[in-house]
Amino acid sequence: MSLPPLASYPALRLRRLRQADWIRRLVRESVLTPADLIWSMVVHEGDGEVPVASMPGVSRLSVKDCAKAAIEARKLGIPAIAIFPHIDGSKKDAAGSLAADPNGVIATVVKAMKDAAPEVGIMCDVALDPFTDHGHDGIIENGKIANDPTIERLVEQALVQAKAGCDILAPSDMMDGRCAALRSALEAEGLQDVMIMSYAAKFASAFYGPYRDAIGSGKLGTLGPSDKKTYQMDSANTEEALREVALDIAEGADMVMVKPGMPYLDIVSRVVEEFHMPTFAFQVSGEYAMIMAAAQNGWIDEERAILESLGAFKRAGAAGIISYFAPRAARMLGA
Ligand code: PBG
Repeated sequence: MSLPPLASYPALRLRRLRQADWIRRLVRESVLTPADLIWSMVVHEGDGEVPVASMPGVSRLSVKDCAKAAIEARKLGIPAIAIFPHIDGSKKDAAGSLAADPNGVIATVVKAMKDAAPEVGIMCDVALDPFTDHGHDGIIENGKIANDPTIERLVEQALVQAKAGCDILAPSDMMDGRCAALRSALEAEGLQDVMIMSYAAKFASAFYGPYRDAIGSGKLGTLGPSDKKTYQMDSANTEEALREVALDIAEGADMVMVKPGMPYLDIVSRVVEEFHMPTFAFQVSGEYAMIMAAAQNGWIDEERAILESLGAFKRAGAAGIISYFAPRAARMLGA
């Protein structure tokens, strides 16, 4: 950037524009509003709320309460909800068979939420891990996560979600070629309005820890590899993240996502700069837990930390943020 000759101190005093709230608001470069938020929500098959121990303030909700939450989202001006299932351990198997159950909890909750608040967008995770007994996002063959057989299962799962009324399919599995397979299956079924937000740059991360607690996914390694590093990305890589995003866009993704969020803001900013696509970031379970743990110890100011962390995504150029803080943040923002 070429600048005109700058005045310097004392004529130039940058603090002049920070002296009062009104002028700070006037020169603010990015703004967080409830319309930037996607509410991350966990549904279970039972009744009532089940608090998630590692995520204070987050509970697994019943189908009925998810429908009520959709009405709450509408009231708060939150445009969309991302829904994740907690499945009873006894119903899981190695193939994640229940992922494509047309009468399963996801199909049921999507219908209930669309009935309750049709104006609120519903996004479903396309991945097998809530349904597999080994906790991996794919089918295991010869000790490895098998790419192409997994895609076939993902397509079945996604079609069930789309037919139930899901607006946005969000493949989070990181198999190669899944966006193309989803897009052509949607076309073939006359579901061309269904959007795809791909978890394009999804990193193998320690920050997903509390999510396993939330969805009741056991420790990896008993029945398959002990981590997800053969399909999720190496956290050291930027160029590869850009290749992943390029590929998903070419395959028909309408929006792309970077995940986790806060430790990967550089990736968010690079993706926005390179592709000019609606780019979202997922402030994941571990980021939520980290803020809450520090706040509950009195080490940071909870509300300020929540809004500052969400605002940082907007500064980085994100179109929006998937977050467990969405309803609280929307309330704090005066919705
Ligand atoms: C599953 C999936 C994960 C998350 C969303 N979808 C976990 C994982 O990939 O291991 C994490 C969400 C969170 O931590 O909040 N494919």
